[in-house]
Amino acid sequence: MKKIGVFTSGGDSPGMNACIRAVVRTALYYNLEVVGIRRGYQGLIDDELVPMHSHSVSNIMQLGGTILRTARSEDFMTVEGRRKAYENLKKSGIEGVVAIGGDGTFRGASVFMEEYPDVRFVGCPGTIDNDLYGTDFTIGYDTAINTAMSAIDNIKDTANAHDRLFFVEVMGRDAGFIALRAGISTGAEAILIPESKTDIDSLIEKLKNGYENKKTSCIVVVAEGDEAGGAFKVAEEVKRRGFSNYEIKVSILGHIQRGGRPTAMERFRASQMGMAAVEALMDGKKGVMIGIVHKDITYTPFDQATKHNLELNPKLLKMVEILS
Ligand code: F6P
Repeated sequence: MKKIGVFTSGGDSPGMNACIRAVVRTALYYNLEVVGIRRGYQGLIDDELVPMHSHSVSNIMQLGGTILRTARSEDFMTVEGRRKAYENLKKSGIEGVVAIGGDGTFRGASVFMEEYPDVRFVGCPGTIDNDLYGTDFTIGYDTAINTAMSAIDNIKDTANAHDRLFFVEVMGRDAGFIALRAGISTGAEAILIPESKTDIDSLIEKLKNGYENKKTSCIVVVAEGDEAGGAFKVAEEVKRRGFSNYEIKVSILGHIQRGGRPTAMERFRASQMGMAAVEALMDGKKGVMIGIVHKDITYTPFDQATKHNLELNPKLLKMVEILS
């Protein structure tokens, strides 16, 4: 193998830049040419390829976002779009691609490799949601939970000052990982996640108990994908059922969770995974996502990595019950 490409695709996440840097520097170390593909699959279709040198990735480790930019490409969903992408890959002589992204990115790569088996993709898990099999942590998750934690700490200050109940909505799409970790780390009174059934009556019971035990404020962390609805909907329902011990407020954290300086662990893991991805391509691997499980590098086939029935550790749910 002489030349590889690297791109970021789907939602950006903090740590993607550290991963890009590791891919570029590892490729150069092994005397491979390396090309940055801008805006993910869309850039591949539109031929937005840029040669990468060691200095192209200087000073980017500490930055959120992605220097290669990103996109969710509609064109790549079409046969015609994928044909263009293939032609551009062939024209440029790229033999292997490191795709940094989430489940949509790996599903796209699988379809592409079925149509064009001579193309090799290896993935690095880049998403704040942590919703991929085959890795303990995705790139972006640690930073996102730290950002959510700081925001909730701030909300707690004002909630306490006013005797208020806050419903704080965090991201995570269909998964509750961000909610669970951020909620436990901030001592939230309750955490509502899609992986466990939300019972509004028990929630009210719990909030009433807190009030009777002289809690001066309450935080309920709501995962955006919770089946009971987002924070506004749950707050409305709690009000509708007559709960009035605290004044109720809602805060949606939104995209602040997607940006910011990556944490040390994020940079470290992203670097490990980026390096492992290049080495995997050189070893002839394809169609696998690099992960880290119990500190070891793992290789999970794309179709397994993207299964959407991840389970949360039930002990963590119990922990919320005991500690809040
Ligand atoms: O997958 C990452 C994520 O931030 C989810 O948590 C969220 O549901 C979604 O992307 C938001 O997407 P967008 O940035 O397109 O609004």
